[in-house]
Amino acid sequence: MSRTSDSIPKHEAIMRLALERGFFFPASEIYSDSPAGFWDYGPLGVSLKRKFIELWRRELVRRDNMLEIDGAQVLSKNVFIASGHLKSFVDPIAKCPRCKSVYRIDKLIEETVGLHIPERLDLNHIQEIVRENNIRCPKCSGELTDFSYFNMMFKVEVGATGVDAYLRPETCQSIFVDFLRLFKTMRCKLPIGFAQVGKSFRNEVSPRQGLLRMREFYQAEIEVFFNPKKANELPKAEPLMDYLLRLKPLDSDEILEVTCREALEKKFISSKLVAYYLALIQQFYEKAGIPREKIRLRQLGEDEKAFYAVEAWDLEVETSLGWIELVACNNRGDYDLGGHQRLSGHEMTVLDDGEKVLPHVFELSMGIDRSIYCILETAYAVINGRNVLKINPELAPINVAVLPLVSREPLVSKAREIYDLLRLDYDVVYDESGSIGRRYARQDEVGTPYCITIDNQTLTDNTVTIRYRDTTHQFRIEVSKLHDFLLRSFKIS
Ligand code: GLY
Repeated sequence: MSRTSDSIPKHEAIMRLALERGFFFPASEIYSDSPAGFWDYGPLGVSLKRKFIELWRRELVRRDNMLEIDGAQVLSKNVFIASGHLKSFVDPIAKCPRCKSVYRIDKLIEETVGLHIPERLDLNHIQEIVRENNIRCPKCSGELTDFSYFNMMFKVEVGATGVDAYLRPETCQSIFVDFLRLFKTMRCKLPIGFAQVGKSFRNEVSPRQGLLRMREFYQAEIEVFFNPKKANELPKAEPLMDYLLRLKPLDSDEILEVTCREALEKKFISSKLVAYYLALIQQFYEKAGIPREKIRLRQLGEDEKAFYAVEAWDLEVETSLGWIELVACNNRGDYDLGGHQRLSGHEMTVLDDGEKVLPHVFELSMGIDRSIYCILETAYAVINGRNVLKINPELAPINVAVLPLVSREPLVSKAREIYDLLRLDYDVVYDESGSIGRRYARQDEVGTPYCITIDNQTLTDNTVTIRYRDTTHQFRIEVSKLHDFLLRSFKIS
């Protein structure tokens, strides 16, 4: 079990918990040549991730009648010529010829002199800033040289002839490429959202901070196709128009709590459609258990937006490491369908009430691994010297632990019987080792909401105690009512 501690930084506490209790850990870790930025999920991490994705499906995909696809991870070179990634998905780097280190030079400038470098700034200009500020190699003080833009896509050679292809850097490209087929076969009407969960790959120059900057990571992406002339005609948005968004528009230093309606009236947001999806995504994180005051939707300026975005908001969560971007909410206009239409020669227009339209796209591009980290960090607490993960019970990796009060017959057999009764429907563990207090603490630390304890009374009246993680309050319940109780507590298991 992890040591409890108020004094170690939260990020370190979460990384320790993750390693010691099997949430996640570095990939290939027994080898010294293991590349950075690749992580494996252990059983508790897999369970949490699965439930997080199910919550996303329930609160966004099903709620909004979206359709889900599962595209290939290796895509043709042409996909990324059309998408602009071959040309524009780049980070500026510089090298130190003395110690051979390579740096994300925009990040190094930011960290050393606090200057923000806009996306795609001219390399000569970057070099000038480095010279003027005398920024040198942090490891050996050597002079930095070889300024260039580094493309972050992983190239793969397919088949024996080695045809060039790429691992996708974002899942959504298959949605764009497949759009016409999907629209026709699923008999869609605009606006329509397509969703996808899966892995994406980015050859980051400096992966770091565990799940926060990885080279192989999970995304859950939603691409909503709409007629730009009708972005304000959206009856399903009405019930959310009084919902309070936490917006940080470009020209505001503060987070403004404004309803969707006010945000539209004050022209913070371009359309009702965008306001509606921003509300859905903020609501989703609140339902996932992130405190609302730790969430903001920050508008990105020209110097920060991705190359395909005409309007961009980042959903960010405040952590011990600062504000972390969890979802890029991009209005991509007709950038993607237009690009694929031009290169492939396939017309990407569809009919909308008799009008021929090249749909525009609004996307909610979610980083799953980062979300998992933020959920863990915001749920983590040290209470009276105990580590407690006060995670939303629906996301808890283990729903319930079954514990005989002492490790003795006939309590052990009865506890195993109850474990068998539940284990096909819920994530259940059985534990008989150590004192009951120690076993409760073991479960609190990984966020298990309920512990079921089997004691001598169980043998006489077939009742057990249920202990709730957050209050440590206990009550008795008949074994025959356990299923109903758990069913009410966990819609996702
Ligand atoms: N699809 C947008 C992103 O991956 O950031």
